[in-house]
Amino acid sequence: MKSKHTKYILCSIVLVLLFYILWYLKNTVTISDYLEPEIVATHYNGKNFVAQDTCIECHEDIFKSHVKTAHYNTSAIANEEHIKGKLAEGSNELNLKGVRLKLIKENDGIYQLTKPKFGDTALVKSKLDITIGSGVKGQSYLSWEDDKLYQLQLSYFEPANTWVNSPNFPEYSFNRPVDDNCLKCHVTFAENKNESGNGNIYNRNKLLLGIDCQRCHGPLEEHVVYHRTNPNAKVGVHVDNYGKYTQQQRLDACAVCHSGLQAQQVKGNPFSFIAGDTLSAYSKNYQNNNRNLKLDVHGNQMGLLSESKCFVNSLKMDCITCHSPHENERGEQDVFNAKCLSCHTITAINSSVEVNKHTETLNCISCHMPLVPSEVMKLKLDDGLNEIPVYIRTHLIGVY
Ligand code: HEC
Ligand code: HEC
Ligand code: HEC
Ligand code: HEC
Ligand code: HEC
Ligand code: HEC
Ligand code: HEC
Repeated sequence: MKSKHTKYILCSIVLVLLFYILWYLKNTVTISDYLEPEIVATHYNGKNFVAQDTCIECHEDIFKSHVKTAHYNTSAIANEEHIKGKLAEGSNELNLKGVRLKLIKENDGIYQLTKPKFGDTALVKSKLDITIGSGVKGQSYLSWEDDKLYQLQLSYFEPANTWVNSPNFPEYSFNRPVDDNCLKCHVTFAENKNESGNGNIYNRNKLLLGIDCQRCHGPLEEHVVYHRTNPNAKVGVHVDNYGKYTQQQRLDACAVCHSGLQAQQVKGNPFSFIAGDTLSAYSKNYQNNNRNLKLDVHGNQMGLLSESKCFVNSLKMDCITCHSPHENERGEQDVFNAKCLSCHTITAINSSVEVNKHTETLNCISCHMPLVPSEVMKLKLDDGLNEIPVYIRTHLIGVY
């Protein structure tokens, strides 16, 4: 009787203690979790990237508009939501000279089937793991083989709503190894096993898809920790203010991805450059007067803009003069007209032109920044007989 009673008391004490320990752990863990945000990768400069939804807590409006941009959506996990092309039977094939390609849906994902027509004709099956391209013009697909990354042969071309041979692929069965020089403009960060970024073996857990906040603002663990510890601080700490950058620094932050094939890496890794750095220290912007290169689909907006009279004759023009970095403004004619008219006035234009009378409602870019077909980016449709060029909005602003 007595021993039963003691047992009962002992049990209660143990239980209470256990609950206390659990309560204590839960609370302290939450607090330190909050002050130590989830780190998802480490940049080559030693600074840590935090999970991108960390920013929502204090920058909700920017976050919500940013997720609608082509930048945010430029790479993602390949699933039915993100894959833009048609998968229905009859629209899911591409027949090239040396290979027949087909997309099929299985329970665990979508696969490309490759059937070469000559030589080794075994059927090869590769999973679509990552999408590259928001789908404005098109989309390519990457596939893992263990921790090696390859680009698949099928791509999607939006203007024709059809599957095409990936740009610059031969017409036989082919997978292209994907190194940092392909990924650097379409993801926030990738950790290549080869520090120079030349190989295609990656740490799969450290691949940050989409161009997120920290691609343009740098890895921001310290910023988050500071502001969580100091909730009343009103000025951003451990984060750069773009307003304090020089014109060149502001341009470089965009030009790192928007100067096409002209950016030749001379220092570090393809991901070494971060906003605030000077691009010419990392890559040589060589001018070889090859117009074709400038009109590559991987548009050289920087090179073209810098030859425009608007740019040459204004003191402070940069990409942000016309583009809001956190918003999707594609097709917003009024927004862009207003930008042109912030420097030009209809009266001034009409006083210098002779025939063409301007009004405010004209779509300025339809004449002064026309769509130009790319000379090098031509896509092959069925059997390689038809070739269609990709149209790019030129940034050489002028009278055409
Ligand atoms: C705990 C709150 C908090 C979190 C989390 C946070 N920030 Fe901030 N951030 C601030 C405050 C406060 C400022 C200063 C006020 C402002 O500019 O909005 C600021 C300013 C900024 C600025 C402007 C700096 C300047 O001077 O122009 C940028 C850029 C920025 N944050 C980016 C980010 C990004 C990206 C993330 C996510 C990785 C993030 N912040 C997460 C609180 C936070
Ligand atoms: C990490 C590389 C990278 C950086 C840095 C970058 N961009 Fe981009 N940008 C891209 C890529 C890739 C696309 C194509 C996205 C897509 O449609 O898949 C793009 C698309 C765009 C578009 C077209 C948007 C649309 O709706 O189609 C604009 C405008 C643009 N960028 C402006 C800028 C500006 C301005 C900056 C600097 C503040 C900048 N970019 C910095 C890579 C970058
Ligand atoms: C130097 C930076 C850069 C590199 C490297 C690069 N891209 Fe791009 N890519 C861009 C930019 C910028 C755009 C948007 C083009 C434009 O509208 O001018 C783009 C557009 C695209 C698009 C069309 C996106 C859309 O939604 O319209 C696809 C697909 C694409 N790239 C795939 C690739 C693949 C695959 C690789 C690697 C083999 C690659 N890119 C390498 C910068 C780059
Ligand atoms: C394509 C590059 C790019 C991306 C991606 C980007 N930003 Fe920015 N951000 C900029 C630029 C450029 C400026 C400076 C704008 C200016 O000077 O008008 C800026 C300014 C800011 C500012 C200060 C000025 C303001 O508008 O309040 C904050 C805060 C900020 N960004 C937060 C974020 C957050 C949060 C994200 C992700 C949800 C993000 N940014 C994604 C380029 C980018
Ligand atoms: C930051 C101010 C600024 C903005 C914004 C701007 N321009 Fe200009 N633009 C200029 C200057 C300065 C010149 C040089 C001619 C002059 O002195 O009037 C110029 C020249 C031009 C010319 C004559 C080019 C030639 O080769 O003869 C055209 C056309 C033009 N701009 C159209 C536009 C259009 C269209 C937009 C909007 C997409 C635009 N500009 C935005 C400042 C600007
Ligand atoms: C004078 C204004 C102006 C400036 C400066 C400017 N852009 Fe643009 N940009 C535009 C307009 C207008 C469009 C067309 C938008 C649309 O299609 O709705 C555009 C489109 C783009 C596109 C999509 C191209 C395509 O073919 O789909 C990219 C990428 C881009 N800009 C990047 C940049 C970058 C990077 C810079 C700085 C080097 C820059 N822009 C500077 C006005 C400008
Ligand atoms: C239908 C085509 C068309 C549209 C739309 C158009 N322009 Fe023009 N623009 C022209 C032509 C053509 C010229 C050259 C006319 C001449 O020299 O007689 C010109 C000349 C100019 C010039 C140079 C004037 C000079 O001093 O040489 C500027 C600046 C300009 N346009 C700005 C704009 C702006 C801003 C818009 C939008 C509100 C616009 N244009 C819409 C066709 C157009």
